[in-house]
Amino acid sequence: MEFVARTGSAASARTDCAMVGVYRDGTLSAAAREVDAVADGLIARLVRRRDFSGRRGETLVITEPSNLACQRLLLVGLGDPGKLNLKVWRRVHGAATAALLKLGAKEAWSFLSTEDVAGADSYALARHAAEAAEAAAYRFDEMKSRQEDPLPPLKRLLLWVPDRGARSEAERGFSHAAAIAEGQSLARTLGNLPGNVCTPTYLAARARKLAGGRPQKMKVSVLGEAEMKKLGMGALLSVSQGSRQPARLIIMDWRGGPKGAAPIALIGKGITFDTGGVCLKPPQALDEMKFDMCGAASVIGTMLTVSRLDLPLNVIGVVPAAENMPDGLASRPGDVVKTMSGQTVEILNTDAEGRLVLCDAITYTKRYKPAVMVDVATLTGACVIALGHHLTGLMSTSETLAAELLGAGISAEDRAWRLPIAEEYDEELKSNFADFANVAGREGGAVTAACFLARFAGDGPWAHLDIAGTAWKSGQAKGATGRPVPLLAQFLLGRAA
Ligand code: BES
Ligand code: MN
Ligand code: ZN
Repeated sequence: MEFVARTGSAASARTDCAMVGVYRDGTLSAAAREVDAVADGLIARLVRRRDFSGRRGETLVITEPSNLACQRLLLVGLGDPGKLNLKVWRRVHGAATAALLKLGAKEAWSFLSTEDVAGADSYALARHAAEAAEAAAYRFDEMKSRQEDPLPPLKRLLLWVPDRGARSEAERGFSHAAAIAEGQSLARTLGNLPGNVCTPTYLAARARKLAGGRPQKMKVSVLGEAEMKKLGMGALLSVSQGSRQPARLIIMDWRGGPKGAAPIALIGKGITFDTGGVCLKPPQALDEMKFDMCGAASVIGTMLTVSRLDLPLNVIGVVPAAENMPDGLASRPGDVVKTMSGQTVEILNTDAEGRLVLCDAITYTKRYKPAVMVDVATLTGACVIALGHHLTGLMSTSETLAAELLGAGISAEDRAWRLPIAEEYDEELKSNFADFANVAGREGGAVTAACFLARFAGDGPWAHLDIAGTAWKSGQAKGATGRPVPLLAQFLLGRAA
């Protein structure tokens, strides 16, 4: 989709579709008032007759409205006046985009920006409108033999801005949004692909393609099992040993910053299917364990965003990719493995495999002497119990890094919530047979998982994002969300500024 910021009046806008807002109490937005005056009170009449209530996200199409220059007018509900904030703004543009796609409009011009959105500037309005539009237009039908609806795609979205200063601000927002949306869409697609297609080898091949865009700055390398064995990655390999699919360690190295500057490291859990291993999971919603590589997908997606934005930073993305299967060669509960760090781990539960692949990836990443490490993982069901499906779990040993990531989540509208890391929890990982175990009790499972990882991260600034509740949606809208690409991209934009 192409995005353009433009000044002009709603009544005289020559466009496929002009979008104007109406509030829940029937108040018309500034643009709606202007249109209403030219169109003989059409909108006010519709509102009075209760044909349109202004509920947030409600839409109503009026074709060939008289006296206006547009071919269609789209009324968009803005919800309660005084409650229009960026979250509502995104929702409303998502709903409007869905309506435009149904209409088959090729182009539309949003005049919703005549309103105050909790003080947001033109940059934020443009960025969030564009991200929401791209997210609403996202389709995953590459596994279907026939496309569902062959309507023409929405090609261009215009956004009204008051003046030229606002226009250049909005254009910056659009360019960031386009890069973020592209990374997020890639993350969604990788997540949505089934486990029989999206294997560790497939993930590596898709990651390699990133280097194609900017071969000077992006280097992608992939380690196979023999190399991992040489490195002593006994924990990672203990997960893949039960699968016919060989593990891969994918390294995406973006050198956009000063030579020698310490890189920011992003590490993503890439379990391409999690059966639980010998500690087999029950069959309910087991198909959703194809999403267990969404951490990896978000890291690969963010690396694409980084290269699209051409960020002046050094960023390294590391993905330990493996499949967790039950098999004659699979790990048994009680097995003891030696990690690359030298620490030994008793595998009390083969379903706690994410931390086993991540711990070796974290140790490996330390070779790059990163300024910070952030890992992203669909790590625990316990995190879903703690936070539900709205906010990502954040755990960190660094106050400043935690604050930075929480802040990035707020401005990107991709929020996280902090959970603790503390010695009391860490002690629960005790083992009689190895340095420590890979699981503690059921209670506080998101935190004990983070404590396990902290034993490998060491003293440098490190944070862990548990996206088990936010990486995908279940039920009717089942599918990957591409979170937390917006949070990670915002974090990096902040570092680049
Ligand atoms: N991938 C799962 C976590 C998960 C489960 C994410 C359900 C989203 C929905 C992870 O590998 C896992 O199985 N974790 C176990 C850990 C337990 C054995 C300590 C869990 O959460 O049950
Ligand atoms: Mn598991
Ligand atoms: Zn898992």
